[in-house]
Amino acid sequence: MQTTSTPPITDNSSLITGNFLRACNRLPVETTPVWFMRQAGRYMAEYRAIREKYSLLEICYQPELAAEVTLQPVRALGVDAAILFADILLPAIPLGVGLEFAKGEGPILQNPVRTMDDVNNLRPVHPETDLGYVMDAIRILRGELKDVPLIGFCGAPFTVASYIIEGGASREFLKTKTMMYAAPEVWHALMDKLAAVLSDYLVAQIRAGAQAVQVFDSWVGALSPSDYEAFVLPYSHKVLQAAKSAGVPVIHFGTNTATLLPLMKRAGGDVIGLDWRIPLDDGWKLLGDDVAVQGNLDPAVLFAPLPEIKQRVHDILQRAGGKPGHIFNLGHGILQHTPVDNVKAVVDMVHEYVHK
Ligand code: CP3
Repeated sequence: MQTTSTPPITDNSSLITGNFLRACNRLPVETTPVWFMRQAGRYMAEYRAIREKYSLLEICYQPELAAEVTLQPVRALGVDAAILFADILLPAIPLGVGLEFAKGEGPILQNPVRTMDDVNNLRPVHPETDLGYVMDAIRILRGELKDVPLIGFCGAPFTVASYIIEGGASREFLKTKTMMYAAPEVWHALMDKLAAVLSDYLVAQIRAGAQAVQVFDSWVGALSPSDYEAFVLPYSHKVLQAAKSAGVPVIHFGTNTATLLPLMKRAGGDVIGLDWRIPLDDGWKLLGDDVAVQGNLDPAVLFAPLPEIKQRVHDILQRAGGKPGHIFNLGHGILQHTPVDNVKAVVDMVHEYVHK
């Protein structure tokens, strides 16, 4: 006869180690984890030295170089996470849209998508091979990074679509919104395609070893909540859900999103990014306690004197209140001429802060 016994209560929380991954899971941490969007880049002399010899895309294409650039801020700053060096626009290359970074002009996508024929002509993408150099960089990094977790990333369908439609950066997103409003069938066909490609791309990164992923919807704040819900949310949801199902924490980031936060939460993410336009505690209140938050220092504050920086760093930490689930970051990427010493000082300020 079989005896029934109560199965042991499984609590995996002690198996999740490191302050960054613990905070993603809203578990208590020893000190608040901190990393920076665009922590590798032109503000660092080590990066500029490599950029003198190689273009941005050449760095991405050579996994050893991409890995080296990824490690530079980890060594110099003592951050709690590494973010893979790549770019959200890399998938445009195998899609057939083209990508070039012209000096001082930002990205240029040579074959922008404007019609249903353009959408139908997008090439199928196999991330493991077409973007294999990204997976190779991840594998190298997992061998090099000991206790520092590696974040993979992709652009969210809206932000990637905006570059693919406009052919580059944009202020008004006029071509993007015109497609949405005047040719919604083309918009939905493009978003459907991008959601599938970006989901596969993120899952490939996770399989290669990314321990968390961030989905960058940098420009989604250009939309009203109702347009976000109708034209963006289902596609972001698909990408965020694919990453979640692959078993790692997912960070959902945008800027100018104060009115979109509840909808972004509905789209998905274990962690939601907060820029500096909303106080951290107000943003977290809007989102609710069942999600972690990341942010929210204004990148321009890093140009201020240290006492001013400190006051603002402490203000954010105080607003977080020591509640499990805060990852300190900027509200957007590090700016080009940011003093490295100030960035390092912020890492130390966050790590030394004691919640009262
Ligand atoms: O350190 C990291 O954060 C990882 C590397 C990373 C890059 N791009 C390298 C890069 C990441 C996460 C990105 C994401 C990215 N790329 C976003 C989303 C994040 C954001 O800032 O909102 C966007 C919108 C892009 C597209 C892009 N790439 C633009 C608009 C530009 C040109 C603007 C500029 O600063 O010149 C890039 C170029 C780019 N990608 C640089 C870096 C470090 C610039 C430096 C260089 O040319 O060497």
